[in-house]
Amino acid sequence: MDKKIVFSGVQPSGALTIGNYIGAIKRWATLQDEYNCYYCVVDQHAITVPQKAKDLRKNTLDILALLMACGIDHEKSTLFIQSHVPEHSELAWVLNTITYMGQLNRMTQFKDKSKRSEENLNSALFTYPVLMAADILLYKTNLVPVGEDQKQHLELARDLAERFNNRYSDTFMVPEPLIGEFGARIMSLQDPNSKMSKSDSDENGYILLLDDKNTIRRKIKRAVTDSIGEVSYNDDQPGIKNLLNIYSSFSGETIETIVEKYEGRGYGDFKKDLEEIVVDGLSPIQEKFNALRSDKAYLEEIYRKGSEKASDEARKMLRKVYKKVGFIPR
Ligand code: AMP
Ligand code: TRP
Repeated sequence: MDKKIVFSGVQPSGALTIGNYIGAIKRWATLQDEYNCYYCVVDQHAITVPQKAKDLRKNTLDILALLMACGIDHEKSTLFIQSHVPEHSELAWVLNTITYMGQLNRMTQFKDKSKRSEENLNSALFTYPVLMAADILLYKTNLVPVGEDQKQHLELARDLAERFNNRYSDTFMVPEPLIGEFGARIMSLQDPNSKMSKSDSDENGYILLLDDKNTIRRKIKRAVTDSIGEVSYNDDQPGIKNLLNIYSSFSGETIETIVEKYEGRGYGDFKKDLEEIVVDGLSPIQEKFNALRSDKAYLEEIYRKGSEKASDEARKMLRKVYKKVGFIPR
């Protein structure tokens, strides 16, 4: 009878790319009927790199509206903002006490990010995966839909759940990752060997969900391919392979069907069709976004209700944890 629980989070650090959409958010919407879903805009994660307050406020509401535009239904799922539920950071503190420095030192995202900006190596960037574990463990989460880049963080969440359970008795559910088999990693249009990311300095590397039609067409036209000249799905043609993943995800057609369709035709036809498929796929999302984003009172009502629902669960779990570690109840 009881539905399994799904939790996922997305950072409000700038606009979302089609990589975020294909790798994560599109799937979030499809899980809503079968599972009890919590979807969280993780503003506390976002400040691990410097943010302007005004931009963070704007981005948080943008992401909230975008999630809804992508099909997250606030009636079915609990949609909320991380900083509205203080139990997340409270549980993170407790989990920090059972996390080994060595574990955090091995996190590849931390290594990457710290290489990028030496002067901003703050301790929150280092302990960020512990906050992520708290997000997940607060809700007895069974499944966590994320892109492949988050797998290592999820391993840590599992590890901390088990360690706490062993040390203090059974408390947390040990969560499983839910990673799509393909589309889990959409690559940069300019460098098919690195992940499509909104923090890429070359804006031609990514397509944003809110890019206008001409920008989308231009970016696809300029996407790096190869000199083989045949639409085929293999690792020697990483650019085309990536475009095929995008094509398939937006059209719903299988890779085989698409490859067959372009047999004996050049990249020009393929790209032209892809341009229209992506434009057509994003335009209803953009329309919904614009309508939602202009109704601030409605958005406010939604995130307030979301955090109330989330708080009810989070409070219960934190109370249990505090009791087990030996804090005196208030
Ligand atoms: P982030 O933008 O890093 O906050 O990621 C939000 C979600 O989107 C996470 O679940 C990521 O794994 C996923 N994601 C981000 N970039 C990509 C990408 N290029 N391909 C697939 N999934 C992605
Ligand atoms: N760290 C994730 C990212 O950068 C976002 C995130 C925070 C998250 N807390 C989470 C994802 C909990 C899944 C579950 O993409």
